[in-house]
Amino acid sequence: MPKAELHVHVEGTLEPELRVRLAERNGVELPYRTADELAASYAYQDLSSFLALYFSGMDVLRTEQDFFELTYAYLQRVHAQNVVYTEMHFDPQAHTSRGIAFDTVISGIRRAQEMAQDELGIRSQLILGILRDMSAESAMEALEQSLAYRDWIVGVGLDSDEKGNPPVKFREVFERARAEGYKLTMHCDHLQENSVEHIRQCLDVIGVDRIDHGYHVLDDEGLIDDVRRRHMCLTFCTTSNPSDPAPRRAAELKRALELGLNVTVNTDDPAYMRSYYLSEVLLNTQQAVGLSREQVAELARNAFRSAWIGEGRGRRTL
Ligand code: HPA
Ligand code: ZN
Repeated sequence: MPKAELHVHVEGTLEPELRVRLAERNGVELPYRTADELAASYAYQDLSSFLALYFSGMDVLRTEQDFFELTYAYLQRVHAQNVVYTEMHFDPQAHTSRGIAFDTVISGIRRAQEMAQDELGIRSQLILGILRDMSAESAMEALEQSLAYRDWIVGVGLDSDEKGNPPVKFREVFERARAEGYKLTMHCDHLQENSVEHIRQCLDVIGVDRIDHGYHVLDDEGLIDDVRRRHMCLTFCTTSNPSDPAPRRAAELKRALELGLNVTVNTDDPAYMRSYYLSEVLLNTQQAVGLSREQVAELARNAFRSAWIGEGRGRRTL
C-alpha cells in the first residue's frame, strides 16, 4: 500500500550503525563502542530521558555530508516500504547551539531529499522544529534564519520538552510563521500534564493546521467535537516503548477512528524506538487491536489528505 508519513524527526532516524561510523569519521567519543552496545543503551522511562538520548545522539552530526547521509538513509529505508511521501521535522536549534551552521544542516538534508526524489521517486518536505524548552527569542531567531531557505520548508512545528512550555509561550513566533506562509503544527504529548489545555491553546490561540500526538483529545468531549468538526489531523505515533505501551496507543487509535477523527499513524523517532519504521508500526498496531483492512486503508488516506502537498513553494517541492 502506498503510504505517507507526517510525523518523523530526521535526527530520530539516526541508526546506531551510522552513529558509530560518523563518530569515527568526526573523531567523536561515544559512550559505547559498538552499534549493539549503543542500541542496548536506548532505554528511557519518560520524555525527558528519551530527549537526553536523542540530543546526545546528534553530537556525531557535524558536516553537510553527515546530514545528507542521515536523511538519505531514512528516505531509502522508507522508500523500500512503499512510503511515497514524508514530512520530516528537523531541529536546527539543536545544531546551531553546538556551533553547526543552519546552512550546513539544511543543505545536507535538502541534497538528500533531491537525490532521493530523482533516484528513488520518494517525495519529502521539511518542517522546522522549534525546541520549546528554549526561549521564545531563540525560536524567533531560528524562524528568521529559516527565511533564507523559505522554499525548502513547508511548515513549523514545536517539539522537545513540553513540561512548563505551553503553546502560548510561542504565540508570536507562530503568528510570524503563519504570516510567512508556513503551515503550523505542535506536539501535544501524551506523557505531559495539561495536555487537554495545551490542545485547546493549539486550536483556539495558535490556530494550528495539525496536532502531533494529541491523544488526550479523547479525554474531552468538547475537544472530540471540535477536532472532528475541523477535520484536524492528529499524528499518532503508536510505536512501542517502555514508557508508553503500544497496545494502549493502538487502542486509542482505534477509538479515534471509530469516533470519525482524522487520525494517522507515524514513527516519530524510529531509530530510538527499536527501529520500527512505518510498515512495522502499522502492522504492529493493526495486530494489537485488530484493525480492519478498511481501517488501515483509512489511515493511509487520512495521511495523504492531511499532507501539506501543494503547500511547498520551491520549484522542486510538491
Ligand atoms: N516528543 C517531543 N519532542 C521530540 C520528540 C518527541 O517524541 N522526538 C523528537 N523531539
Ligand atoms: Zn515527535
